[in-house]
Amino acid sequence: MTTQQRKILVTSALPTANGPIHLGHMLEHIQTDIWVRFQKMSERNCTYVCADDTHGTAIMLKAEEQGISPEQLIEQVSADHQRDFSGFLIEFDNYYSTHSEENRYFSELNYNRCVEAGHIDVREITQLYDPKKQLFLADRFIKGTCPRCKAEDQYGDNCEACGGIYTPSELINPVSAISGATPVEKQSSHYFFKLPDFEEMLRKWTRSGTVNEGVANKLQEWLDQGLQDWDISRDAPYFGFKIPGTEDKYFYVWLDAPIGYLASFKNLCDRTDGLEFDDYWKPGSEAEVYHFIGKDIVNFHALFWPAMLSCSGFRTPTAVNVHGFVTVNGQKMSKSRGTFIMAKTYLEHLNPEYLRYYFAAKLGSGIDDFDLNLEDFAQRVNSDVVGKLVNIASRCAGFIRKKFDNQLAAQCAEPALLAQFTEASSSISALYEAREFGKAVREIMALADNANRYIDEKKPWIMAKDEAKLAEVQEVCSVGINLFKILIGYLKPVLPHTATQAEQFLNIEPMTWDAICQPLLGHQINTFKPLMVRVETDKIEAMVAASVQSTPAPVKPKESAAKGPLQTDPIADEIDFDDFIKVDLRVAKIINAEHIEGADRLLKLTLDLGGETRTVFAGIKASYQPEELIGRHTVMAANLKPRKMKFGVSEGMVLAAGPGGKEIWIVGPDEGAVPGMRIK
Ligand code: MSP
Ligand code: ZN
Repeated sequence: MTTQQRKILVTSALPTANGPIHLGHMLEHIQTDIWVRFQKMSERNCTYVCADDTHGTAIMLKAEEQGISPEQLIEQVSADHQRDFSGFLIEFDNYYSTHSEENRYFSELNYNRCVEAGHIDVREITQLYDPKKQLFLADRFIKGTCPRCKAEDQYGDNCEACGGIYTPSELINPVSAISGATPVEKQSSHYFFKLPDFEEMLRKWTRSGTVNEGVANKLQEWLDQGLQDWDISRDAPYFGFKIPGTEDKYFYVWLDAPIGYLASFKNLCDRTDGLEFDDYWKPGSEAEVYHFIGKDIVNFHALFWPAMLSCSGFRTPTAVNVHGFVTVNGQKMSKSRGTFIMAKTYLEHLNPEYLRYYFAAKLGSGIDDFDLNLEDFAQRVNSDVVGKLVNIASRCAGFIRKKFDNQLAAQCAEPALLAQFTEASSSISALYEAREFGKAVREIMALADNANRYIDEKKPWIMAKDEAKLAEVQEVCSVGINLFKILIGYLKPVLPHTATQAEQFLNIEPMTWDAICQPLLGHQINTFKPLMVRVETDKIEAMVAASVQSTPAPVKPKESAAKGPLQTDPIADEIDFDDFIKVDLRVAKIINAEHIEGADRLLKLTLDLGGETRTVFAGIKASYQPEELIGRHTVMAANLKPRKMKFGVSEGMVLAAGPGGKEIWIVGPDEGAVPGMRIK
């Protein structure tokens, strides 16, 4: 029986066309590219498509700001994106655009089919509107004073100072972030996709191996909370596709963005013999479809997208592979620290394969965040790739050239060692397939250690001094070169450029997975040239220095408010003692402190109140590392009503002082105070 060749379609999320590619994007594209290269090497029929995500208000405004048309903007950005991706050796079969006729066609088709099936609703909603710019304002385009804590200059849906959530209309003195005008409420009709109609379908789909367990649990939570209709329309002016049958309504960018996967693939099919769109996308198709995405866009890919596909007569994806976020040196990428590193800046200083290797060496199939620790990065690449892998070839190649005219021995002197390397093929292959790249790399590097140990034991450099042992030198070095060939073969999905150079050195055809372990006997190789040089730390420093962007100067406190050098806030109105005593202040011990995904100012604290623990969200992220807080005592308001904030319920407040930003100090009691004691 012959097994049919697997047909696989793979995508990475479509980068938004309003900014450059950075190392966070690169994690996703490198992960996808390694997986795709592995599939292609294993002779599966694998196709990798992507595109720029080009629609929406932000892109429209950005183009306007630059005095060009949105079309011009997205063309420039697309060229930059593609240059960066190819710099990192990302090999797409097609890189397209959501601003394309194919995408318009499929967006309309999907929408029309959803209408026919009764899954679209139209109703009036009230929104804030910028009367000057004549534009409805999304929450992030409205700023104002927080209705809770009165912090100024907060976004329309949540306050970064106190963490409160609210609707834009609750903001005090709201202004349009675009024109500065005071927004007014205005009605307009919107189109909704009735997501709740798909609850049963989604419950099944999300539990059928399509996402990993952590993601499935999160989805279940959303499903249990109850799905809501999804607003898929935006009013003119908008850069996007007009909704059929309307004059001034456009598809919301997140409707046509995933459809861009279909459009990019269709565009490729139309110019590729033997690649048929329907083979991949008709219901029941045996082809496999995989989306690689970051954890911030799971709802779009694992709820809206499969629901839309199923309602419009397409198959649903085989799996959505979700990864975590890149942090640099343990922290969110930061422009001021120089760790918000653009792909372009990286490439100006460092070899793309260093990063490909480091990402691979630490990536698993889960959604944990990925820490790019720059010191560890240099050390890891230098010790593994340069010190272990490339070293094997450079230790052996010289003797083969000088003494044997680049001819390898006719037989293998160490069949057992070769067999050990060959036998690893299936487990390494399975690890790549499962996206457990870190585990695959660990296994490959353990073999590299064995190869180096073998050469260390045989010491060809000593044998080479003895004429009688020349034949053995050739045998040992030929074993070494054969081991090197297998190792670089296994790493070819990660290090495609080095592998190609190695293939030239070894004088062999580009390796497929099956060819990796075919021994080279009596084979003529080419003269060895160094394959990779060490990572230099000063290049990393230069890259970080080039990435530092100054942050806007902190807002000065209002003149009238300042009564002394430290009193940036005016003293509040007098209160009675009875008011004061209502506040139950307690000594609390910080037993845990952690960062919160997506929060710019808040840390999550777990406080011991002497037998009771509380969770408190405190706006002190800029001033403290979580580690340095753990174990310390502080003072908290313990009888504050629990408050639902964006990231959870906060059960109290800790006392802290300072003007804000980095300058905030938590209040600590003197020694002797014990958790739970009341402050009097
Ligand atoms: N345009 C949408 C995706 C549409 S897909 C139909 C979008 N674009 S994005 O440019 O903001 O992000 C593209 C991908 O990069 C997403 O999968 C996102 O999760 C990922 N990342 C963006 N920043 C990231 C990190 N710092 N770390 C890891 N991945 C990150 O979302
Ligand atoms: Zn606030």
